[in-house]
Amino acid sequence: MASNPYQTIERGGPGEIGWRIHYFETLDSTQERAAELAAGGAAHGEVVIAEEQSAGRGRMNRPWHSPAGVNLYISIVLLPRLAPEAMPQISLVAGLALAEAAETVAPGLVGLKWPNDLWLGRKKAGGVIAETIAESDRITAVILGIGINVNLAADDIPEELRRTATSIRIATGVECDRIALAAALFSRLNNRYMEAESLGFGHLRPDWEKYSVLTGARVTIASGAGRQTGVVRGIDADGALVIDDGGELLRVVAGDVTLLGAYD
Ligand code: BTN
Repeated sequence: MASNPYQTIERGGPGEIGWRIHYFETLDSTQERAAELAAGGAAHGEVVIAEEQSAGRGRMNRPWHSPAGVNLYISIVLLPRLAPEAMPQISLVAGLALAEAAETVAPGLVGLKWPNDLWLGRKKAGGVIAETIAESDRITAVILGIGINVNLAADDIPEELRRTATSIRIATGVECDRIALAAALFSRLNNRYMEAESLGFGHLRPDWEKYSVLTGARVTIASGAGRQTGVVRGIDADGALVIDDGGELLRVVAGDVTLLGAYD
């Protein structure tokens, strides 16, 4: 393993997010390495960070562009005490912590697009994926993956992503300290995760909604149930997106949301 610049921000002990950080120059995906650690008995809060990923992945099996030395590619082993039905809320909790950490370096620019895309201005700068590891009918671990475009330059964004993607450096014009940003993320995630565990996601909802870029907007949602169009009213106490289709309020628990008129 290469020498670890993130060791300086390890804090607390087993059970605290970021108490141990495993660092790699290159991995296929930090998700795989963190899943191996979990299978080998890792404690809650252990983190994997790579400088580069050769097979980074996003939600819906999309590739996650992961060039070397500019961004943050993070996977966190969580050993949840939450009920299985609360699992989708983990990525919302992570999205809120991600927004709060981003606010420290890009104040006033941060938004969240449900379920958990980090937006700066009107473009995506980060995302969250939560993958569960189960044994028979019990969830033994959640591997929480977080990718943030930190110092990625505009010219280094692949052509097909240029319309929709940005980075902290592009949005603010300022180079960002990745280690300080990771520290801010772990501290906020630790606090927000403990809050959600003890008080429920509903307690975090007003703070999440302050960042919502979808509330009041007209969207189309593609999911297993087909396509639905409506105006977003907000999220409910379980983290579902509530849309008004012109007559009734519909709860959407999963899906790919297109914000009509975005990226123009
Ligand atoms: C999304 O918005 O689609 C989620 C993107 C998650 C990307 C991160 S980068 C670190 C971790 N390793 C991966 O392969 N994916 C996640």
